[in-house]
Amino acid sequence: MPRGLFITLEGLDGAGKTTQLKRLAAWMHKRGIDPVITRQPGGTETGDRIRALLLDSRSSALAPLTEMALMFADRAQAIAEVIEPALSSGKIVLCDRFTDSTEAYQGGGRELGSEVVLDLHKILCGNLQPDLTLLLLPSLERSLDRARRRNDRTAEKDGKDEGRFEQEQEAFYRRVWEKYCEIANREPDRVVVIEGDLSIEEVHEQIIEAVAMRLSALHTR
Ligand code: TMP
Repeated sequence: MPRGLFITLEGLDGAGKTTQLKRLAAWMHKRGIDPVITRQPGGTETGDRIRALLLDSRSSALAPLTEMALMFADRAQAIAEVIEPALSSGKIVLCDRFTDSTEAYQGGGRELGSEVVLDLHKILCGNLQPDLTLLLLPSLERSLDRARRRNDRTAEKDGKDEGRFEQEQEAFYRRVWEKYCEIANREPDRVVVIEGDLSIEEVHEQIIEAVAMRLSALHTR
């Protein structure tokens, strides 16, 4: 059985990843592809519990290293339970965030640096690399605005408190943003950057273009 394709979506909070992931999945369904869709943190029963702990604003005393360790605990479980079995059986996996998020948020935002994140990724995640990473990077101002609005809406709708990251200061998000740019420059073959303040439709088109290229490479493999 040929190995599947591992696609991740990345970006600052409110960049529109979730909307784009849904649209990408719908595009695939129309073509008879049935992707496995997951997210981090979360995506497994254990992961959902780790997610609740990580994102609750009452967890404000979490040390940066604890936060990073929990992100990796979640990820190791998701790889074992969902991602690796799917890839081994030839499936396409669409994952909302992966280790680039840890590098950007904990490495950059929390200033732990890239090295420790990449080392832990090797040890805990078998250095699993996405085949393609779609990095949505609209302007920082626009992203912050969207994150605030999204968080207000979520709290109103289901009373779930996932606001801990959105409470971060602008300097934190700026460091996250810069780290994402660094990752994209370091790995241009893997990371496709979708820049600018584009419409949902325009972003979708750019995503499809990048994904279609990888899919045709997969079929000729
Ligand atoms: P989400 O809202 O995109 O699901 O992401 C949840 C939050 O968790 C978001 O603010 C980014 C943050 N995060 C990290 O800080 N490190 C990580 O490794 C991951 C996966 C998410």
